[in-house]
Amino acid sequence: AIDPEFEENRDVVEQHDGHDVWGPVDEPEELGIHGTHVAVDFDICIADGACLEDCPVDVFEWVDTPDHPESEIKADPAHEDQCIDCMLCVDVCPVDAIDVDPG
Ligand code: SF4
Ligand code: F3S
Ligand code: ZN
Repeated sequence: AIDPEFEENRDVVEQHDGHDVWGPVDEPEELGIHGTHVAVDFDICIADGACLEDCPVDVFEWVDTPDHPESEIKADPAHEDQCIDCMLCVDVCPVDAIDVDPG
């Protein structure tokens, strides 16, 4: 599961589409955590898709991650600023790849 303390345990190593990426990143095998308010651990995501289907405000968009061992697409929190903290994505992700911090 995603580390809920990732902001203490990791560092921001790059930006992607307006949000932070928390390392380590070593493409294509290691992709880190995308987003901060809505954080998706790309190394855990298996592209189940439930988060994209269920998010009421369409926070997520697919991004291509060729040659990643878990899946070749990931749910990117492209619109994390629109999140209304319903926690649905956290509940439906089968591998607990998502952390949302209401605040
Ligand atoms: Fe979308 Fe709710 Fe998850 Fe926020 S907590 S990203 S609104 S499903
Ligand atoms: Fe990935 Fe979980 Fe969404 S596996 S696509 S973050 S439901
Ligand atoms: Zn991203």
